[in-house]
Amino acid sequence: MRLEDPKILVELAALGVDHRRGIALSGLTSLGIGGTTDLLRITRHDSIAPLVGLLAANGIPYKFLGGGSNLLVADGDLPWVVLQLVAPDSDIVLEGNLAHVDAAADLGRTVTFCAKHDLGGMEGLIGVPGTVGGALRMNAGAYGMQIGTYVREVKVFRAAARAIEILRGHQISFEYRHTSFAPDDMMLAVTLELPAKPYKEILQGIRICNEKRRSSQPLGQKSAGCIFKNPPGASAGRLIDELGLKNLHVGDARVSDRHANFFVNAGRASAKDMLALISRVRDGVQQAFGVALENEVVVWNA
Ligand code: EPU
Repeated sequence: MRLEDPKILVELAALGVDHRRGIALSGLTSLGIGGTTDLLRITRHDSIAPLVGLLAANGIPYKFLGGGSNLLVADGDLPWVVLQLVAPDSDIVLEGNLAHVDAAADLGRTVTFCAKHDLGGMEGLIGVPGTVGGALRMNAGAYGMQIGTYVREVKVFRAAARAIEILRGHQISFEYRHTSFAPDDMMLAVTLELPAKPYKEILQGIRICNEKRRSSQPLGQKSAGCIFKNPPGASAGRLIDELGLKNLHVGDARVSDRHANFFVNAGRASAKDMLALISRVRDGVQQAFGVALENEVVVWNA
C-alpha cells in the first residue's frame, strides 16, 4: 500500500513520523520473506495516538512491527502500512535492580548490558533475536526462563482505546509463549526487575546457553525460530523429526536438518512456499500422532 494523499503526508511530517515508501518487508524479517508496503517509523510515543487516529480517519489499515524475528509476512503488494518504533539513543536506563527498557531495544543487547551491570536472570534469552517489545508480547523464553517473570511494569499503546496505559506486572498474565495483551496493543517500554548477580557468573550462564543453542539450532540460516509451539508435555521438533520430515521442502522453504521445528528460507522462499510447508508438516503430525500443532510464528496475511 502506498500513501499518496498530500494532506496525509503533511500530517505525517507534522507528527514527526518518518515515512519510507515501498519498503520490502523481506529485509525487515529474520525469515527474509515478505512483500512491499509503506513503513512509518515512530520516534515519539506521544505521536502514536494521533497517528493511529489519522490512519483510522482515512481508512488506512496498519500493523505494528517489532524486530520481525517471529513473523511470516505475505508476498506481493501488501494491503496495509506498517508502524515501527525507533529506539531512542539511550534505550536502557538502570536504577538499582530495575532496568527501564524501550520496547524497540534489541533483546540480546539488553541482556548483555544488564549483565555488565551485574543484573542477571535473562541468560537464557541471549541468543533470541528481536526486540524487547516482541519478546514481551509473546513471553519469549528459553532454557527454563521467560521474560514475563521479570516484568514489573509495561507502557503500552492500546489501539482499541487509542491511549497509552501503564500496566503493573501482576495485571498481565504471562503463559507459555502467550500473554494477555490484546493483538493490537503496541509495546512501548518495560521496566524489568532483575536479580543481582556478579557479571562473571552471568557470563558463565550465557556461555552455556549459547553453546546449547549453537549445537541444536540452525543459527546461521534465515528462520523465525521455532515455527510451532510445543504441545503440552512434548517437543514439536522431536515429533517432526520422528516423522522423518527434516529437509522436507516446498521450493526454498525447508525443514531444518538441525532442528525440525525450525523452518528455514534456504534461498528465495516465498510466503506461499513457507505456508504450504507449515500445512504439510502440521497435517503429517496430526495424522501420525493425533496432535494439533499451534503456530508460534505470527502470520501476516495480505
Ligand atoms: N529434538 C529432536 N529432533 C529435533 C529437535 C529436537 O529429537 O529436530 C529433541 C531434542 O533432542 C530434545 C527435545 O527434542 O531431546 C527438545 O529439544 P530442544 O531442547 O531443542 O527444545 P525444544 O522444545 O525443541 C524449546 C523452545 C525453543 C528454545 C529451546 C531451549 C519452543 C517451541 N521451543 O525448543 O525456543 O530455544 O526449547 O529452551 O518452545 C522458539 O520459541 O522460537 C525457540 C527456539
